[in-house]
Amino acid sequence: MNQIMIDGSVNPGVLVKHLSKVTANAETVARTIIVSNRIPSPTEAGATAGGLAVALADVAVPGSIWFGWSGQRAEETSTQANVSSIGGVTYATLNIAERDYQKFYNGFSNGALWPLLHFRTGLLRFNQPDYDAYRRVNRDFARALVPFLKPGDLIWIHDYQLLTMAAELRELGITNRIGFFLHVPFVPPALLNVLPPAAEIMAAMSACDVVGFQTVADRRAFLDNAIALLHVRPDHYNCFQFLNRTVSAVVTPVGINAAKFSQLAERAEHTVDARRMHESLGDRKFVLGVDRLDYSKGLPQRFEAFGRLLSSFPEHRRHVNFLQIAARSRQEIGSYQTLRRELDRRAGDINGEFSDFDWVPLRYMTHPVKRNAIAGFYRRANIGLVTPLRDGMNLVAKEYVAAQNEADPGVLILSRFAGAADELTEALIVNPFNADEVAGALHRGLVMPLPERRERHRALLAKVRTTTAQHFCEQFVSHLRAPASI
Ligand code: G6P
Repeated sequence: MNQIMIDGSVNPGVLVKHLSKVTANAETVARTIIVSNRIPSPTEAGATAGGLAVALADVAVPGSIWFGWSGQRAEETSTQANVSSIGGVTYATLNIAERDYQKFYNGFSNGALWPLLHFRTGLLRFNQPDYDAYRRVNRDFARALVPFLKPGDLIWIHDYQLLTMAAELRELGITNRIGFFLHVPFVPPALLNVLPPAAEIMAAMSACDVVGFQTVADRRAFLDNAIALLHVRPDHYNCFQFLNRTVSAVVTPVGINAAKFSQLAERAEHTVDARRMHESLGDRKFVLGVDRLDYSKGLPQRFEAFGRLLSSFPEHRRHVNFLQIAARSRQEIGSYQTLRRELDRRAGDINGEFSDFDWVPLRYMTHPVKRNAIAGFYRRANIGLVTPLRDGMNLVAKEYVAAQNEADPGVLILSRFAGAADELTEALIVNPFNADEVAGALHRGLVMPLPERRERHRALLAKVRTTTAQHFCEQFVSHLRAPASI
């Protein structure tokens, strides 16, 4: 197989897997090399909920090579990738020095960029040493990648941890075509300007030939920043000239392997976990949320909305259970610790107020759950509650749709601030900041007649089956392969 995949810590799990097909079908055989910060360990791939790791897990096909962070912190950052092969998949990984990891990962990536790109400037913590370490790690990744490269290789870098890597590759003399895909949202100039190195980051991103986004709004924000900070003039094809290069900004939303996920969910119905869940619910309706424990996911607001359902629509008391799986994440960062305490308190408040001796309305767990168990839970859930305050795409929404029984499907409630809302318009679209609106949608979903559920689901499923992971990869790689036309 003529391709190398290098990946590390971006957002979709589905994307890389399909590259082999994309590349194999090409007339001129070019290798596509995928780079991202986090590479799912083959042994942990089953225990994550939604997001990038899920997409990446799907990508591990024999013949592929992934390059990214090993997940290990060491005394020094590796200068050479450690290459290993498991099940036909080659992993090329780097250790990151402990002193850099804190600043690169907890500091600039997740303490500054993550809140900013999710519109939470109040949570942003900037300091120069963190940013210096971020640049250093991006440089180390670039240096370690160079020995892998051959002329004609396409390089595809993923997500906000590696925004400046393309510029480092150019600095090292690499002239291959480079693509970058941002899995999280992008912010308009008024927000990006809060970040002291905003212009430097825009310039580094513009060392790519193709820069990809989840939505039209994200691309618009990028181009507006390019105009404001790089003083360029994009044309009608969303391309601009920067430092003798044509940069093309594209929209290629990520998706899932819908057919495979539907099968997984169907099979999962018969597992021990699904049976235990089923028995514990009895005849009650089931509302399900599946997220990383992250402030961008709107979990406190979601808990409040569920409490509002029980107070405003008392007919649902004793007849509904809400399970929130909130897998612990980035626990060394203060804002994540604060969120966890807040959710503990809110869950206690709701259960304290509404529980009966034989009914506890809210179940809330913070340890990760196996993927096939989650697929079975989605299938049993009458409502998939996906209400982030801001999200690049949100693959949980797509997985929930794919997992449903077409004869008797559940209802998706989806935040208008998730990238998925651009596509999945037949969901009940809500503003997650409005507890009454979300409670109203929960009520509506719980009593929705079967014909309406089926009609909505049919339309949603058709979309989830069209904009798949494979489609995403094909779209992006075809942009990367074709030189921009201005
Ligand atoms: C989101 C990001 C990914 C990231 C994932 C898990 O999906 O877009 O880049 O890998 O969250 O976060 P973590 O910090 O554990 O890598």
